[in-house]
Amino acid sequence: MTHDLNSILNTESFQALAKERLSQMAFDYYRSGAWGEWTLQANIDAWKKIRLLPRSLVDVSHRNLAIDLLGMNMSCPLLIAPTAMQCMADPEGEVATARAAAKAGVPMVLSSLSTRSVEDVVNASSADVVMQIYISSDRGFTKALAQRAQAAGCKALMVTVDTPVWGVRERDIHNGFRVPDGMSIVNLQRPGQPTGHSGSGIGAALGWTIDASLTWKDLDVIRQSVQIPMMVKGILRADDAGRAFDQGAAAVVVSNHGGRQLDGAAPTAEALPAIVRAVADRGPIIVDGGIRRGVDIVRALAMGASAVQVGRPILWGLAAGGEAGVDRVLNILAQEFDLAMALSGCANVKSITSDLICQQA
Ligand SMILES: Cc1cc2nc3c(=O)[nH]c(=O)nc-3n(C[C@H](O)[C@H](O)[C@H](O)COP(=O)(O)O)c2cc1C
Repeated sequence: MTHDLNSILNTESFQALAKERLSQMAFDYYRSGAWGEWTLQANIDAWKKIRLLPRSLVDVSHRNLAIDLLGMNMSCPLLIAPTAMQCMADPEGEVATARAAAKAGVPMVLSSLSTRSVEDVVNASSADVVMQIYISSDRGFTKALAQRAQAAGCKALMVTVDTPVWGVRERDIHNGFRVPDGMSIVNLQRPGQPTGHSGSGIGAALGWTIDASLTWKDLDVIRQSVQIPMMVKGILRADDAGRAFDQGAAAVVVSNHGGRQLDGAAPTAEALPAIVRAVADRGPIIVDGGIRRGVDIVRALAMGASAVQVGRPILWGLAAGGEAGVDRVLNILAQEFDLAMALSGCANVKSITSDLICQQA
């Protein structure tokens, strides 16, 4: 049954529609968090606790939502977060998402666990593509992948640092999750490497793609292999944000992996303020986890973030309507953000400042 996507008014409704379209295994893989899923839910709830004090009688008749982030011109302060295996949601997978990103004028961060190659995704549209990287126990492979992403035309790399080991998602174990037949993790293929795998989302076959012995100095492998900027994703502490900039990061991403790694980790809205206090003068701070409404973008920016990333809502759009579904999700978020700015008395992104937040007694 085809749906009039314009009749879907918010990202929550897209999740309900995606549930109807996806297999139980794929839906659970996308929606799950680790263990008891406390952090997954807390991410969403924490934004709701940030209360705004809108300014009155400001001329908001002309509004400008655009920002520049590391040389990328963005129509609004939103990036598509890296999420694995998008071909489970739509046959075109990450290529469809990239095309929608181009139309919306926002960057797409491509997961290194994608089911379409980085070259296919970059060549599919004019979108700015950022490549997400895990530093593997095979450092030569990681270096080659970083260089391959740069050669393909990626605008930056985003190194994920919250995965010394994979978090455990009980729904995936229960479902016996495996990569569906006919799909593979194309960017991570090595000769003789099996591509189908099962267990907690990733399993033993891709164990080599991460490395529990990683430390800060290992970021040098990436930074020294490419000229494009490096962002560091998965930061929840002010001291770690400082270390990331010390190691040459051009931006940090405050993230708990959408609640898929350490269950019990602080929701990102709670971790953000200390990081802003410590490193706001050193470079852009991006935040993700639980952003579901345009007003959440106003909240994040008022707290000092430069931009947000959105993960699951994009997957729900892709599952519900392919490229057109992602178009609609991005459109909803941008429209809500535009209206939330107007209602807050902000004509441009710079005017979204900390005084908009109600400091509760
Ligand atoms: C299904 C799924 C797959 C993900 N895959 C990756 C990945 O490959 N690399 C990565 O750095 N983060 C990955 N993430 C985390 C997202 O980049 C992001 O941090 C998170 O989804 C943001 O939270 P949200 O889904 O509440 O917006 C994944 C998240 C989901 C839901």
